[in-house]
Amino acid sequence: MAILEAVNLKKSFGGVVAVDNLSFSVETGQIKSIIGPNGAGKTTVYNLITGLLPPTSGLIRFNGQTITGLKTHTIASLGLARTFQNVRLFENMTVLENVMVGCHQRMGSGLFSAICRLPKFRREEKQTAAVALEKLALVGLADQSQRPAFSLPFAQQRTLEIARALAAEPRMILLDEPAAGLNSHETVQLGKLILKIRQMGLTVLLVEHDMELVMDISEEILVINYGKKIAEGKPAEIQDNQEVIKAYLGEDFKGR
Ligand SMILES: Nc1ncnc2c1ncn2[C@@H]1O[C@H](COP(=O)(O)OP(=O)(O)OP(=O)(O)O)[C@@H](O)[C@H]1O
Ligand SMILES: [Mg+2]
Repeated sequence: MAILEAVNLKKSFGGVVAVDNLSFSVETGQIKSIIGPNGAGKTTVYNLITGLLPPTSGLIRFNGQTITGLKTHTIASLGLARTFQNVRLFENMTVLENVMVGCHQRMGSGLFSAICRLPKFRREEKQTAAVALEKLALVGLADQSQRPAFSLPFAQQRTLEIARALAAEPRMILLDEPAAGLNSHETVQLGKLILKIRQMGLTVLLVEHDMELVMDISEEILVINYGKKIAEGKPAEIQDNQEVIKAYLGEDFKGR
């Protein structure tokens, strides 16, 4: 069953059509990647899915429910989490506190009880810290929990972003170029973490330029160029697709 479906999705920015009549679906429990050259529209697709931008036309279903037009926090609360292409952390907060921010997306207490530090809020804070620590352990950052986020090496900051997204207990996670800026060892570790996340039952959508990582861990790949689908299929099919080789990967890719 498809957990996510995009139907005839379109987004124009003035004269630029960033996403052009794009339809695709992601099966529950799958790791699917979206690849394409710079400016192909990948991040825009994420922004449409997560409600950050309204589509010009088309619709998106998550778990069978149409989510087009819903607010970002509503979509997040339905179980969709994401990371951003550029690391977006609260740099002066600790690693743990950053993950706690993610937890709050699904916790009940409102702003009033937070400001007044009501017992309900304090109880929830303890619970939240425990959940956050659990997520940090999952990604291998538990021993860094009290450090300020800015003091982490870059690769760990990216991992922390993933922990924060997981803290909302999503059913699906969208990763936007999580390997950007990582060395090859760090990228291998990231691949293992993504496989682990899938093993936990989550569905993963991955936007990534690192082709080795994409080909290694994806079950299916969607290739877009100028906002349009140019190919979709299993990694081996994509590697052999002449359109893809011509439009994006370059002739030297085939031999890899
Ligand atoms: N908010 C915006 N306003 C105007 N144009 C935008 C906006 N966001 C994206 N675009 C344009 O839409 C097109 C697709 O951009 P997008 O960021 O989605 O590409 P991408 O595939 O994520 O690229 P990259 O691999 O470089 O991250 C580009 O031409 C971009 O300049
Ligand atoms: Mg992008």
